[in-house]
Amino acid sequence: MKNQMIDLLLDRRSVREFTTQLVDDEALKLIIECGMYAPNSRNKQNWHFSVITNPVIIEEINRLTVAGMDRLGIKHDVDYHIFYHAPAVIILSSVIEGFSELNCGCAVENMAIAAKSLGLDSCIVGQTRFMYHQADPVDINRLVKIPEGYEHDIAICFGYRKGDNPEPKPRKEGIVDYIK
Ligand SMILES: Cc1cc2nc3c(=O)[nH]c(=O)nc-3n(C[C@H](O)[C@H](O)[C@H](O)COP(=O)(O)O)c2cc1C
Repeated sequence: MKNQMIDLLLDRRSVREFTTQLVDDEALKLIIECGMYAPNSRNKQNWHFSVITNPVIIEEINRLTVAGMDRLGIKHDVDYHIFYHAPAVIILSSVIEGFSELNCGCAVENMAIAAKSLGLDSCIVGQTRFMYHQADPVDINRLVKIPEGYEHDIAICFGYRKGDNPEPKPRKEGIVDYIK
């Protein structure tokens, strides 16, 4: 019963160490397309993809987020980088209503698996929400081109993995019931 798709789903890991190799535009385009084809409630597609490969902007998002974490008293390593120095980042935003967060969840997972199928790795990053604790939301949304009326949901970073695929974390037991 196993197939390539199942293998990709089981082998995907959150990767937190990347090489400096850039992600080419063609790969990014395919990844985004897979995100856009994710299921979404009532097919509203009222989400937005901010695709960031400009290292200066990536550093600025990291700086603002870490500053926000500091403000909230969230502990982190001195040299902590929220994107683990990955060369490409996508921030998903949406019109907050109905199932918008779930929709964005479907889209990031599609993109993580699409990336994996292209030999890339990824890490979904929710910490970007902390950047709003440091700077003016309007300025941040302008910086990462989040459209008016949309709000930040989640980010995902991509790159080529340094080292081996991390070991899978043990999965909880007793969380499945079959009702036949
Ligand atoms: C909504 C969401 C937010 C996450 N935020 C972060 C984050 O900010 N930083 C991080 O390193 N990993 C983040 N992760 C990755 C999880 O830590 C990871 O998926 C989990 O530990 C299981 O590991 P695995 O993805 O390798 O199976 C996030 C995952 C999800 C789904």
